[in-house]
Amino acid sequence: MTLHWYFLFLVFLTSCYNTEAGTFSVDYTNHQFLKDGKPFRYISGSIHYMRVHPDQWNDRLQRIRALGLNAVQVYVPWNMQETFQGNYINAVQNYYNVLLDVVKPLLYKNGGPILMVQVENEYGYGPCDHKYTAFLRDLIWSKLGNDTVLYTSPNVCSEYWVDWYTQWGVKAPGAANPSQVIDNINHMFIHWNASFNIYMIHGGTNFGFMAGADGNGGAPSTTSYDYGAAIAENGDITPVYLAIRSYIQNISGWEQPPLAIPSNNPASNYGQVPLKRVGTSLVSTLIQIQEACSQSTDPLTFESIDHPYGFVLYTATLSAGGKTLVTPNIKDYGYVFVNNNYQGLHNNVTLDNTLLQNWFQCGINLTKPSVDSLISGSFNEDIEDVLPEKATTAPGVYVGQFTASVLQDTFFDSTGWGKGVLFINGYNLGRYWPTVGPQIALYIPKPYIQQTNTVLLIELVGAQQNYANFVDHAMFKNI
Ligand SMILES: *[C@@H]1O[C@H](CO)[C@@H](O)[C@H](O)[C@H]1NC(C)=O
Ligand SMILES: *[C@@H]1O[C@H](CO)[C@@H](O)[C@H](O)[C@H]1NC(C)=O
Ligand SMILES: *[C@@H]1O[C@H](CO)[C@@H](O)[C@H](O)[C@H]1NC(C)=O
Ligand SMILES: *[C@@H]1O[C@H](CO)[C@@H](O)[C@H](O)[C@H]1NC(C)=O
Ligand SMILES: *[C@@H]1O[C@H](CO)[C@@H](O)[C@H](O)[C@H]1NC(C)=O
Repeated sequence: MTLHWYFLFLVFLTSCYNTEAGTFSVDYTNHQFLKDGKPFRYISGSIHYMRVHPDQWNDRLQRIRALGLNAVQVYVPWNMQETFQGNYINAVQNYYNVLLDVVKPLLYKNGGPILMVQVENEYGYGPCDHKYTAFLRDLIWSKLGNDTVLYTSPNVCSEYWVDWYTQWGVKAPGAANPSQVIDNINHMFIHWNASFNIYMIHGGTNFGFMAGADGNGGAPSTTSYDYGAAIAENGDITPVYLAIRSYIQNISGWEQPPLAIPSNNPASNYGQVPLKRVGTSLVSTLIQIQEACSQSTDPLTFESIDHPYGFVLYTATLSAGGKTLVTPNIKDYGYVFVNNNYQGLHNNVTLDNTLLQNWFQCGINLTKPSVDSLISGSFNEDIEDVLPEKATTAPGVYVGQFTASVLQDTFFDSTGWGKGVLFINGYNLGRYWPTVGPQIALYIPKPYIQQTNTVLLIELVGAQQNYANFVDHAMFKNI
C-alpha cells in the first residue's frame, strides 16, 4: 500500500538477541541469504509502531513471536518523526543523520537484530528519480557500511497481502479465509523456497489525524487499521493466526517454533457517559485554542501556515450577501459557518462567481495541554447540567467524564453521533463517522484509560444523543 517517505527494516526476532556480532549477506549465485555464513530464510510480519500504543509494543511483538515468525518488518515514517521539515536532499540528510546513528548499533553485524535496510518504500509510485535513490543508497552505505544488505533481495515477497485496510464509505473486506492464506504461504515457502513478509501481521490504529486517504478515488482510511490481520486491532488472536501458527509448527527444523497461544486482553464496557457542550458554538470554542493566525489575500494551504494536520479556521468578511458559495480546491472536507451558524457542507470559494478575498487562517491547536485547557472548569458545575438531546444536534465541542474501576481496553461506540474526532484524556484517538461507516466503534487502548477519564468530542455535524457510549468490542456495519 502507499506509504511514502518510509524507511524500512527487517528485524530478526528472537526472544533475546545476543550481542555478538554476526554476518548477514546475499549469496547471489544460489539466490539465498546467508546468516552467519549459513543459508537463511525468514517468515516475517509487518507491524507499524506508530499504529500501536508504545505500552503495547511488547504485547504485540510477543504475539508475533508466539506465532513462530522469525522476523518483523518495520517502517519508520519520516512525516511522523520530523513533522515540520520539508522534503528532499538536505532534509533527508538531516533525518538520516539522526535515524542511522540510532540504527547502526542495532545492525546484525554489530550484535543487534536488524538484518536488512530498505532505501525507500514504494518510491517511484509516482515519478522516479534514480539520482535520488542512488543518493539515498550511498548515504546509507556511508553511514552504516557498504556491507549492509539493502532491501532488494533474492527470492522474497516483501508484502504478502493477507487482507486489506478499510476506507470510509467503502465496504470492509470480508475476513481472510485461513485455508487460502495457508495455500499462498505454502506456495511461497515450498514451491519458491522464498522468504516472505505477511502484510500486516498486526495493523493497529490510525490514531490522531494519521489515517490518510488512498485509492478508490482518494477515499479516506478509517481509524481502525485492523487490516484483517492475524492479530486484530486490539491484539485478539484470529482464525488466520491459528492457521499460520499451525503451518509454522509443522515446518520441520524451523528454528523458532511457535510458543503457547497468547490469551486475548480483557476489555471493559464502561457504559454511557453524559456529555455537555463547551462554550456556545463549535467555532467560538475552537477559537479559544487557535494558534497564531496568518492574513492573506487568497486562502493559504495548511503547509504554508505550518499546520501539518487537523483543523484550520478560514475566515473572510463578506461585504454583501450572496447565494452560491463555490470552493473548488478543498482537498479534504470544509464546513461553512456564517456568523457562527453552520451552513452545511460545501466542497467547492466564490460567492455568486465573485472570488472571496482577504482571509485569516488560524490553525487549531489540538495538543494535549491545549485540549485540556478547554476542559478545565467544565466539571466544576453541577452534573445535572447535562444538555437535552436536541441541543447536541448542532456542531460543537462536547465533554464528559467517567470513572474506571478497572483499567482495560475499551471501544467508543459512535452510534448516534455525526462526524468528528474523539479525545480521551486529551489524546486524539481518531475520527468517527458512523453515518458513513463501516467503522462504528473506535478502539481505545488500555494505556489511555485512567481512574478518572475525560471524553471530548469535536462534533462537526451534530448528534442525535447527549452521551458517549463505551463498549467492550469492535463494531463495524455492513455498507
Ligand atoms: C566498500 O568499502 C570498502 C572500504 O571503504 C571498499 O574497499 C570497497 O570497494 C567498497 N565496496 C563496494 C561494493 O562499494
Ligand atoms: C527448493 O529447495 C529444494 C531443496 O533444496 C530444491 O530441491 C528445489 O529445487 C528448490 N526449488 C526452487 C524453485 O528453487
Ligand atoms: C499441521 O499438521 C497437523 C498434523 O498433521 C495437521 O492436522 C494440520 O492441518 C497441519 N496444519 C497446517 C496449517 O497445515
Ligand atoms: C499549542 O498549545 C500548547 C499548550 O498551550 C503550547 O505549548 C504550544 O506552543 C501551542 N502550539 C502552537 C503551534 O501554537
Ligand atoms: C466543484 O468544482 C469542480 C471543478 O471546478 C466541478 O467539477 C464540480 O462540479 C464543483 N462541485 C460543486 C458541488 O459545485
